[in-house]
Amino acid sequence: MNDPHVHRSLQEAKVPRHVAFIMDGNGRWAKNRGLPRSFGHASGAKRVRSVVEHAIDRGIPFVTLFAFSSENWRRPMEEVSTLMSLFVLYLEKEVKDMNSNGVRLKVIGDLSRFDARLQKLIAQAEAVTAHHTRVTLTVAANFGGRWDLVQAMGRWQAAHEGAPATDMTEAALQPFFSMAYAPDPDLLVRTGGESRVSNFLLWQMAYTEMYFTDVLWPDFTPDEFDRALAWFVETDRRFGGVSQKVSD
Ligand code: IPE
Ligand code: IPE
Ligand code: MG
Repeated sequence: MNDPHVHRSLQEAKVPRHVAFIMDGNGRWAKNRGLPRSFGHASGAKRVRSVVEHAIDRGIPFVTLFAFSSENWRRPMEEVSTLMSLFVLYLEKEVKDMNSNGVRLKVIGDLSRFDARLQKLIAQAEAVTAHHTRVTLTVAANFGGRWDLVQAMGRWQAAHEGAPATDMTEAALQPFFSMAYAPDPDLLVRTGGESRVSNFLLWQMAYTEMYFTDVLWPDFTPDEFDRALAWFVETDRRFGGVSQKVSD
């Protein structure tokens, strides 16, 4: 996108530090073409690369992708296994390039439900990219915002045996969330036309700006990404306070 205003604003530091994506609409993308849903997922998986590369170009240090929700097990078994195979393929194929592009990979979610091979691949991919600092790419897999809240409280309790519940303050709980290593998302992008959060990062999105687009995930080009960033540039984030805009 060549809008000079957007370009200037992005240069002038209104770059979000953390953009989270709900990659929705793969199934409909395939249906529109008379193809099985699995083609939509394959096409959606291919889209990830250009989005991550564009985030790097724009200087966004944290990118998070919702790949599989804790509720997605409700889908037909063949679809679940297609998604798992694509995840395996992605890890096998992309880790080399993540290393050359300075990408640190993190995977969040309840990984215990994945098969041993996938769990091993995830651990290896995280380990070999752990030292990179240019961009942190988080993939949320078998993730649910409610699960994250419950696991954080459980781990807090295990670490503070016998402590009264009143000790469980927001700040005390913060380090126990799956994404404690990242700032909260500044911008959420959901493709696919729905305006809901679908149990994604609930705690972390308290003040996230939310951008919903009808574009289906496989069609989410870097230009579409820039459109979301242009929209973000225009937002006035007040965090419960009053506007900081000089014109107000
Ligand atoms: C998003 O696309 C991918 C996952 C949820 C894993 P969908 O598969 O939900 O696509 P639609 O919403 O049916 O079009
Ligand atoms: C949200 O998409 C989850 C992911 C993109 C991984 P869904 O397609 O599962 O969401 P709902 O069912 O429309 O809320
Ligand atoms: Mg969907």
